[in-house]
Amino acid sequence: MSEESKNKIAIVTGGADGIGLSTSKLLAEKNYIVIISDINEEAGKHAVDDLVKEGKQADFIKVDVSNYEEVKSLIDQTVEKYKTIDLLVNNAGIGTKEYRRASEHTLEDWDKVIAVNQSGVFYGMKVALGYMLEQGSGNIVNVASLAGVKASTTGMAYAASKFAVVGMTKSAALEYASRNIRINCICPSFTETQLLEDSMFLVPDMREKLVRSIPLKRYAQPEEMAEAIYWLASDKSAFVTGHTLVVDGGLLL
Ligand code: NAI
Repeated sequence: MSEESKNKIAIVTGGADGIGLSTSKLLAEKNYIVIISDINEEAGKHAVDDLVKEGKQADFIKVDVSNYEEVKSLIDQTVEKYKTIDLLVNNAGIGTKEYRRASEHTLEDWDKVIAVNQSGVFYGMKVALGYMLEQGSGNIVNVASLAGVKASTTGMAYAASKFAVVGMTKSAALEYASRNIRINCICPSFTETQLLEDSMFLVPDMREKLVRSIPLKRYAQPEEMAEAIYWLASDKSAFVTGHTLVVDGGLLL
């Protein structure tokens, strides 16, 4: 039986929009049963309805990833229903609301960004890894950011949270490699989603200015991030673990 002909079970956090939605759609096309989880119930249910109308299998579970009990319940419910969790995509994330220098960063923004982007990923990994150890296999793909591998002059909380995602990915990959569990992350740069749109207020003409800094001279589409996530989730990358896949149009160069 080929990899794509049997149903695997995937959870995508933040799956209602942007990169998470594109990833959910691609995984459903590749025959995964996709559990879309998101804090936005309306958009999440809408995404699931669309997939089901196309004959795909999907469920929605409302979760705020910064709440450990909710993340645990998401994964417990999934395993109870489907008996396994093959893939967890820890994608849910938020941008900083401030883009201020460190000395001006508010504690509220720090706490919020760290809670969602960092603790949310830890909670997902902690619970999913327990089940993956029991079942003897598993795959986790975390969505970090280019801000998780290079310095940013603003948004220290966001940078801290994304460096943490890279660090958690590498540490856990090493801990669980011998247990048939692979853990990788992608580091997107500017991708056409609501999150990017929300940061465009910072400087006049920011959209045009930013695009000039990208060697490939365009923004990424969320579907391109989904392809990178799928590759890491699939057996095509079977010898890859602990990897930080930068998908940035050459920006890091
Ligand atoms: P988006 O804003 O388009 O989608 C994020 C989704 O996550 C939304 O559906 C939102 O409702 C959900 N979400 C937000 N907070 C949540 C919470 N506490 N619990 C559960 N769900 C929650 O954002 P986008 O761009 O698709 O971002 C996805 C990931 O990619 C994030 O981790 C982000 O940091 C990362 N990223 C995005 C980049 C970009 O340029 N768009 C660049 C680098 C990284």
